[in-house]
Amino acid sequence: MDSIIINGGTVLEGSVALGGSKNAALPVIISSLLTADKCCYGRVPALRDVSTTLRLLSRLGVTIEKDVVAGGPLELTADKVQELEAPYDLVKTMRASFLVLGPLLARFGEARVSTPGGCAIGTRPVDLHLQGMERMGACIRQDHGYIEARARELKGAVIDLGFPSVGATENLMMAATLARGETVIRNAAREPEVAELGAVLAKMGARVSGAGGDVIRIEGVGELHGMAHEMSPDRIEAGTFMVGAALTGGNVLIEDARVDHIEAFAAKLRETGARVAEEAGGVRVTGNGRVRSTDVATLPYPGFPTDLQAQMMVLMAVSDGTSVITENIFENRFMHAQELNRMGARITLDGNQATVRGVAELSGAPVMATDLRASMSLVLAGLVAGGETEVSRVYHLDRGYENIEGKLAGLGADIRRVSRDD
Ligand code: EPZ
Repeated sequence: MDSIIINGGTVLEGSVALGGSKNAALPVIISSLLTADKCCYGRVPALRDVSTTLRLLSRLGVTIEKDVVAGGPLELTADKVQELEAPYDLVKTMRASFLVLGPLLARFGEARVSTPGGCAIGTRPVDLHLQGMERMGACIRQDHGYIEARARELKGAVIDLGFPSVGATENLMMAATLARGETVIRNAAREPEVAELGAVLAKMGARVSGAGGDVIRIEGVGELHGMAHEMSPDRIEAGTFMVGAALTGGNVLIEDARVDHIEAFAAKLRETGARVAEEAGGVRVTGNGRVRSTDVATLPYPGFPTDLQAQMMVLMAVSDGTSVITENIFENRFMHAQELNRMGARITLDGNQATVRGVAELSGAPVMATDLRASMSLVLAGLVAGGETEVSRVYHLDRGYENIEGKLAGLGADIRRVSRDD
């Protein structure tokens, strides 16, 4: 397994390019299952989660041309799908695989998908996905760890989501595109990734309105057609580099970043004293002396994104005061706190609240990654910790960040990846 080694104390300066959005790309490339035509995707990030998704699509029978690893466009054609099962070995490594349920059900009338199970950050149920499919007329059975869904024909329905789940919204949107009649999804997730999926489905001929808002209407059509789409830049990667600039007192231009997609986060970053300025080429963040403490509570979009909570905790760990971070989305998303404490942070946990008492300096230490965003927070901490930090199990990091050590080194960080054969 690889580790990443960082020697702290450098200031991040320069400009950095963003990859395509992971959390938009996963549902978007899965939506290729909805048509027999070729779909072309640009700016798809070369991430572990993307390659896992492509392995699953290939196993279902989707033809893959010009894979992303080459950096070129990705071309998918689902004209020979003969397998309708998403197996446990793939779904357990990446929960977003569960998003194949809606498209398979809508286009082929049946699907057998492993339940994703929990992960490090929470139990991650899929009840909202299944309740919505049942509202649309699907017969759902669960046995031996698999969901078996059948529907001679899905029919439009009014679906009230008990929680604005991103995945449930996306799964149901895709199912609704080929259902008979109109589907209305209320209390829908409003994340930009949902809006991007809606735009892609519309390019494919779906009749979608309201994606990105809390009520999405979809009028089913007979079939969808191919199209080409360039993925948007990853807003969570943007926020991550913005924290890095503020944390190290640096000056970084994050190219193509859109502040309006992370407004709540940008407002919080400004409260800590960092300067966040929109420029023609993106967003420039400049550190501004000692980081000021502030409180953070994660919420569904447009609230503060849970995917930037761990990164913000690092900033608060070296702030001038005490901060309270409340995690309202996932029940166990503080795994990074204990590792940060090993680096000298002073974080105490009480349920879904973390109290962070700022310290003058962190100290480098060997630490272990547990989940994607937690591992990124440990790398960020290494940038400002005295001495050397080794983050092990960085396969977690590779799920959502492409060449992170190269990008940070390009900004002046003293960082390298090493292979550990443990
Ligand atoms: C998506 O996960 C993202 N993943 C997550 O990013 C992100 O943290 C999350 O949305 C929230 O913004 C992708 O888009 C691939 P949810 P998802 O369904 O869809 C509960 C990252 O680091 N819930 O909005 O799984 C659930 O338990 C990842 O890039 C139900 O109770 O998130 C959680 O507490 C991590 N029943 C809350 O809703 C359901 O049927 C939010 O989950 C579905 C969800």
